[in-house]
Amino acid sequence: MSDTAAPPATPEVCDFVVFGGTGDLSLRKLLPALYRRELEGGLPEDTRIIGVSRADLDDEAYRAVVRDALASHVERSDLYDGAVDRLLSRLHHVPMEFDDLAQWHLLHGLLKDRPRVEEAVTVFYLAVAPSAFGLICDQLDEVGLVSERSRVVMEKPIGHDLASSQQVNDAVGRVFAESQVFRIDHYLGKESVQNLLVTRFANTFLEPLWNSRWVDHVQITVAESLGVGERGAYYDRAGALRDMVQNHLLQLLCLVAMEPPTYIGRETVRDEKLKVLQALKPMTPADVDRDTVRGTYGEGLVEGQPVRSYADDLGEAAPESGSTTETFVALRTEVQNWRWAGVPFYLRTGKRLPRRTSEIVVVFKAPPHHMFPHSEGSAEPNRLHIQVQPDEGMRLTMTAKEPGPGGYRLRPVSLDLSYADTFDQRSPDAYERLIMDVVKGNATLFMRRDEIEAAWSWAEPILDRWTTAPDRPRRYAAGTSGPTAATALIERDGRSWQEIE
Ligand code: BG6
Repeated sequence: MSDTAAPPATPEVCDFVVFGGTGDLSLRKLLPALYRRELEGGLPEDTRIIGVSRADLDDEAYRAVVRDALASHVERSDLYDGAVDRLLSRLHHVPMEFDDLAQWHLLHGLLKDRPRVEEAVTVFYLAVAPSAFGLICDQLDEVGLVSERSRVVMEKPIGHDLASSQQVNDAVGRVFAESQVFRIDHYLGKESVQNLLVTRFANTFLEPLWNSRWVDHVQITVAESLGVGERGAYYDRAGALRDMVQNHLLQLLCLVAMEPPTYIGRETVRDEKLKVLQALKPMTPADVDRDTVRGTYGEGLVEGQPVRSYADDLGEAAPESGSTTETFVALRTEVQNWRWAGVPFYLRTGKRLPRRTSEIVVVFKAPPHHMFPHSEGSAEPNRLHIQVQPDEGMRLTMTAKEPGPGGYRLRPVSLDLSYADTFDQRSPDAYERLIMDVVKGNATLFMRRDEIEAAWSWAEPILDRWTTAPDRPRRYAAGTSGPTAATALIERDGRSWQEIE
């Protein structure tokens, strides 16, 4: 798996082994994504999909479970009997307790019992709790299932702080070489996120402006209208900083801030992202108090529907002493390098905000001189909006003259690029792209170990300070844009958040 500019080839023979094959992630995301690749003829011809879980299911029973999952998670108009049957015929299920070696031998038997076994690429997808990653890797090694053609996929959370992420990475790294490890951040698989690389590096007009000389600040918002749903037990141990900021928002920040790599390749892109993470301004306790705001949603109205508070959503998952977990974070950081010196990056994410939207806004500096003394309106700073989801697209706001005689009337207008209108085709789900990249061995859109650790090194002082700080997360009503302190955080710098419309 060398890092060249040549596109990696799709292997012809592949076994896709999903640990946690009956879990929520598999049934809601992975198997629907595999179905879509099946539908579009993208799966290697000789592919088998092997679900591994504690459930006592034979192949037929597992196929029935997956058939139901596809019916629930793929749009009806995209379900075709032929493609569903083809996918189901690829499925097998191995019931397993991970510490029972006898059951690993059954898996071994199944994987070795296939035509062209010596050509097969084997993907081990760890869609289980990270505490099981080490044991699974050891058992794979023990029964002789790890070879040069094996790949392992890890889902987040990879640890809950730097030390625990190192432990997980060490455990997996004892068995798999770093080049075989694929750490998923599904935000990197989103079409609009990949397009950010193309926008920046396949056009020339932005590059001269993409620096502290012309950019006033950058805002990254990932807003969700949903609450924590059934995931309270996990979420209350994580919180928004670990769940969203340490990974998804920092990855978006990296793609905005990174230097142009020599070409888009596995190590070149990851090297540049790493440099950004390492250049993030370290947070002292005083910085954390001043530059971060955390909140927890109370009850309220979201999209016209009354919803419960976070505490009520947690129910029995709530700790006895009450939860102090944040469901909202806003913070200000800087990338301390030549390009970005002094430019604030404002990051914001939360659950139960007014609607689901993820957007990056690059706000340029105001024109240095006001040249229309008797005009109506003013020349507002240009803003480049990169709409990650939904309705992927890009919008550049600029100032134009309203037509007509009688002086200058300055009005903000926008140049709009809508993906849906421009390309008139479906945007694949992030998992479709990422799964196929694993099969092909293309790790460009996956996180390297040193990136994860650099992200934790930056996030950990925030978590530490929050643990000892006297104040608790501020309450915000569900359906609002977060605590008022988050508004104050940016307004104190004379700026304001893009509205979560
Ligand atoms: C996951 C988080 O990584 O991303 C969830 O664990 C969150 O809490 C989800 O809801 C958001 O992903 P998306 O693709 O819906 O924006």
